[in-house]
Amino acid sequence: MTEKATGVGRNMSSYGDAGFSRYLRAAFLAGAGYDADDLGRPFVGIADLSSDYNPCHRLMPGLVEQVKRGVLQAGGLPFVFPTISLHESFVAPTMLYRNLLALETEEMIRAQPMDAVVLLGGCDKTVPAQLMAAASSDVPVVVDVVGSMLAGSWEGERLGACTDCRRFWARHRSGELDEARIRQVEGSLVNTAGTCMVMGTASTMAAVTEALGMMVPGGATPPAPSGDRLRHATATGRQAVALALEPRLPREIMTREAFGNALTVMSAMGGSTNAIIHLLAVARRAGVDLTLDDFDRVSGETPLLLDLKPSGAGYMEDFHNAGGVPVLMKALEPRLATGHVGVTGRSLGEQLAEVRPPASWQTVVRTLEAPLGAGGALAVLRGSLAPEGAVMKVSAATPDLLRHRGPALVFDSPEDAARRIDAPDLDVTADSVLVLRNAGPIGAGMPEAGSLPIPRRLAEAGVRDMVRVSDARMSGTSYGTVVLHCAPESAAGGPLALVRDGDLIELDVGERRIDLLVDAEELEKRRADLPAFPVPERGWRRLYATTVLSASEGADMDWL
Ligand code: FES
Ligand code: MG
Repeated sequence: MTEKATGVGRNMSSYGDAGFSRYLRAAFLAGAGYDADDLGRPFVGIADLSSDYNPCHRLMPGLVEQVKRGVLQAGGLPFVFPTISLHESFVAPTMLYRNLLALETEEMIRAQPMDAVVLLGGCDKTVPAQLMAAASSDVPVVVDVVGSMLAGSWEGERLGACTDCRRFWARHRSGELDEARIRQVEGSLVNTAGTCMVMGTASTMAAVTEALGMMVPGGATPPAPSGDRLRHATATGRQAVALALEPRLPREIMTREAFGNALTVMSAMGGSTNAIIHLLAVARRAGVDLTLDDFDRVSGETPLLLDLKPSGAGYMEDFHNAGGVPVLMKALEPRLATGHVGVTGRSLGEQLAEVRPPASWQTVVRTLEAPLGAGGALAVLRGSLAPEGAVMKVSAATPDLLRHRGPALVFDSPEDAARRIDAPDLDVTADSVLVLRNAGPIGAGMPEAGSLPIPRRLAEAGVRDMVRVSDARMSGTSYGTVVLHCAPESAAGGPLALVRDGDLIELDVGERRIDLLVDAEELEKRRADLPAFPVPERGWRRLYATTVLSASEGADMDWL
C-alpha cells in the first residue's frame, strides 16, 4: 500500500510541501499517542452521532467501541469523529436538517484522512443523510444502525413508539384515559434505547440500507440492547478494513439493481412513505435514474410479506427473531437482482444461498405463495393539483374514500391548521377535502404534518377518516386517506397555492388522479394575485429555502 493511498498520508492538507504536511500531522498524532506503526495502517473513520438530545442513540457509545474493536482486529486504525445528531422529537424533523447532516457528513469524509468510514446512524433522518453523503463519497462506506427498541407493555398490552403513541393520545383526548393513566403510558412507550420498533421511517431505512448492500447483512433488525447488535458492530468494523484494502465505492454499490432490490424490500415490508423522498435523494446523488413511477410500479408488483405495525401486528424484535432482512430477502429472491454485490464483496445470490426460507414456526415473515396482503400499498398520483406527482399510502386509507369529490377547506400552514381545526364553527362536513399548504420542502422543511387531525366536531360525531391533501409528509406510523408530497409545492407556486375554500377537488386513486376542478382561466387570474413566498433572511435556512429541490426529486439541494 502506498503512503498516499492509505493511513495518515490520505487527504493531505496543503501546509507547504507534502513532506511538511505529513510531518506536522504526525507530530500532532504523536502527541495523542500514535506512533509510526499506527500511522501506516488503514484509517477507518467512525461517525459517532451520540447526543443527549438523541435518546434513540443512547447506546451508540458502546457500539462505537465494538466497531473500533473490529477495526483493530483487522489491522486498521479507528478514528472516531462527531457529526450532528438528529432526533425526531428534539430537532424539528425536516429536510432542513437531513440535508445539513448530509452536507456535513460528506465534507467530513472528504476533509479528514480515512481509507474507509463506518457511518453509525439510527433515528429517522440520520441514515438517509448518511446514505446521501455516501453516494457523494470517494471512499468506501459501511452503514450501521443503533437498532430498534424492545416493545413495552402496559396493562397487559404490548406497545411501542410511535404507532401506539398516537393511539393512546387520541384515547386521552377523548377523555377515555385520565391524566394518571396517560402518564403511565408515557412511561411505557419507549421501553429501551434504540429506534422506534414499528415499521416507521427508521426501521424502513435500516432495512432498505441492508437491501441496498450498504450494510453488513443481518444488521437492520438486531434490537439496540442485544448482543447481536454489538457483534454486528464488530463485524462492521472488520468489514470496513477489508473495504479500505480493496475499495468498493458506494456509487459502485448503489446501482439501479440495488435500488430495485431496496424498493422490493420496502414494498414487501409496507415501509414508510418518507423512504420515497430519501431514496429519490440518494439515487439522484448516486447517478441512478429513479423516479416516483418506479415506486408505484414496484409497490403494485410486490405483495406485503411482513406482519409488523402499522400494516400488521408485530414489532421489530419479532422481525429479528424470524431472521430479519436476510430471511425476507430469501422469501423475495425470485424478485431480486441476485447478482448484486454490496459491501461484503459477495453477491446477494451467494449470501442468500446460506439463508433458510421463512421458518414454519413463525408468522412474521410470509412468503410470495402465502402473502399477508396484495401489492399496491403505495400509489403515485398526478393531476392538476400535483402535476409532478403526489404520494398516497393506499394501505392506510379508507377504501370508500379512494374515489371522492368534495369541497376544499384550506389551511395556509401547519400552524393555521393547529389553530383552527378544532374550532366549533369550522365550516366543514365529512365530505370536505382538507387542504394543507406551505408545508413542502421550501414552505416548512416538509414536516410530518400531512395527516391533519379530523376536526373535533366531526370526530365527536364519529367521523374517522377524511380526504386530506398537502405538500407535507406524514409519519410512517399514521393512518388515513392522505395525499402527500404534492409537487410542485405551494411555496414554489404549485397549484396547491391557488386552491380556495369551496373549490371542488377530485381524488381517483384507481386512475392515479388528484385534480382541482377549477378552470384554467380562473387559476391564472388567481396566480397573478399570489404573493411571493417569504424567504428566510440569512444563514442555512436561507441557503436551504432558495436551493432545495422538489419532493418529487428527493428534496436535496440543487447544488449537491
Ligand atoms: Fe428516533 Fe423514532 S424517534 S426512531
Ligand atoms: Mg419521523
